[in-house]
Amino acid sequence: MCGIIGIVGRDEEDVVVDLINGLERLEYRGYDSCGVAVVTGGSILRARAVGRLQNLKAKLDDSGLSGCVGIGHTRWATHGKATENNAHPIMTRDVAVVHNGIIENHKELRFDLQNDGYIFETDTDTEVAALFLQREMDRGASHRDAFRRLLKNIDGSYAFGVLFNALPNAIVAARHRSPLAVGLGRMTCVGSDAASMSGMCDKIIYLEDGDQAEISTNGVSFFDKNFQHVERKVHKMSDNWADSDKGKYPHYMLKEMMEQPNAIRKTILHNQMDHHILDGVSRILILACGTSYHAGMVARYWFEKFLKIPTNVEMASEYRYRSPIIEDGVMAIIVTQSGETIDTLEAMEHVRRNGCSRVAAIANVKNSAISRSADFVFYTEAGIEVGVASTKAFTAQLTILAEMAFHQHEFLLRELQNIPTLCEEILLSHDRLKEIAENIQKANSVVFLGRGALYPIALEGALKLKEISYIHAEGFASGEMKHGPIALVDDSVPVVCLCPHDELFDKNVSNIQEALARGSNIIVLSDSSGSPLLPAEVTKIILPRVQSELAPILYPVPLQLLAYYVALLRGADVDKPRNLAKSVTVE
Ligand code: M6R
Repeated sequence: MCGIIGIVGRDEEDVVVDLINGLERLEYRGYDSCGVAVVTGGSILRARAVGRLQNLKAKLDDSGLSGCVGIGHTRWATHGKATENNAHPIMTRDVAVVHNGIIENHKELRFDLQNDGYIFETDTDTEVAALFLQREMDRGASHRDAFRRLLKNIDGSYAFGVLFNALPNAIVAARHRSPLAVGLGRMTCVGSDAASMSGMCDKIIYLEDGDQAEISTNGVSFFDKNFQHVERKVHKMSDNWADSDKGKYPHYMLKEMMEQPNAIRKTILHNQMDHHILDGVSRILILACGTSYHAGMVARYWFEKFLKIPTNVEMASEYRYRSPIIEDGVMAIIVTQSGETIDTLEAMEHVRRNGCSRVAAIANVKNSAISRSADFVFYTEAGIEVGVASTKAFTAQLTILAEMAFHQHEFLLRELQNIPTLCEEILLSHDRLKEIAENIQKANSVVFLGRGALYPIALEGALKLKEISYIHAEGFASGEMKHGPIALVDDSVPVVCLCPHDELFDKNVSNIQEALARGSNIIVLSDSSGSPLLPAEVTKIILPRVQSELAPILYPVPLQLLAYYVALLRGADVDKPRNLAKSVTVE
């Protein structure tokens, strides 16, 4: 949420084009507004725009803004509406600030600064940081002292990039509970992630919590939370951003859905389970948010059935507001695509503080905050996922969780190897889903039903539909319908039912009958053996037959496609749905 890039160029080279390129790769973090600022000729100049980056580009074409040191920002609004006035960089006379995070004590600081005669021009929490720096410098502090006083006085989370008028060759940066890294190479950069600096840098240094960095034409210095000089580990930057254009597809989401067979194959190939990983584990605790949480929910069915280990799955955003009891022998598994979701990261730290000594992560982004801090990591080999709606990362997460669950069940592991081919079958012939999308696009509300390990897939189907098409959708456990939700159902509410021909088939058919009796328009996802046994009135989608334990990896695929086609018909921006961001780094 919010992306930051800062660049110190070499040999008086203009950095504005590189700032825009960096922001393009950060837009997945927020796209409410964007802006850049450069220090040039002893003063700071900026350009900002509401909405997508192309609006800023158009402004920059007209303005001729240039400079060899600059910062840029793409915003996901927290405090203050998505207006140009609230867009970053936020400026005062002598500083420009870009910020990701939330300054929790912004009200108190605002009050103090106003009492001291400073006038606020935006509704953002970030402006207190800019004016605080200005006030300290007005009182005679050096830029470094002003910055340190700011960090001592703010509560909350931050990644900052700051330009000072008085320091025309430098960017000052700091982070606390928001990601930030320094890149070294053709340019010296600071950015929210490796991708933002790719093409300019080949080495990356991740700031630790509380770290500050001063980046200038003379090099980079790092300071820890006690303001002591420190050295930080330099990593080689793997430049795989090149894989991430849309290729022949109109949307990242479609491309990423199509990449699922290979993502699953690669994930199987790169993750041979060590049989000792679960030695001494008496309980598994899975922590995750959103789609990753749904993957964790499926895993609970698998782990309890095949590993015989009690498993809890917790929404990371809620978990740390409880007082969890962590017995000896608990292994936490953190599931995340980005590896930087703040709720998940905080839950991970919470579980450690409460005595959990074994923390594994399943992550897609290498070297992300969560993967760096886990005791061991399993990487989903899904490649960069750009579309806000998670697709290939989800089925790859399920693949790793299945490998863990089935590691002593040769037959199921062999069946897992067939999933990519079955997935291909669905992806290659899904015209029926386009027809069904025509009906669903007119609905105001859609219900998704599943039983057993397909219940979380019903939740996931509903999440996909609501996040990209903005149609209200809810997933329910089929058996729960009669306990309340069936009251929602009439002929205007399509019901999508996940109904493979497995041991729960007959029970699912009973639930379908109950909904039919209420006039529902029912779409059933089943297979060639289940389909002839379904009531004639339902619309059928026939999927390849799959070993029932593995259905949760296959059944999300048609639901993703359905959501995609509904969103297209409704003219929604599939890759960048309103109000969302790919990476959720604020609470
Ligand atoms: O990067 P993470 O897996 O930790 O992200 C968790 C959720 O924010 C994410 O899955 C979100 O729900 C997706 N937009 C769903 O498509």
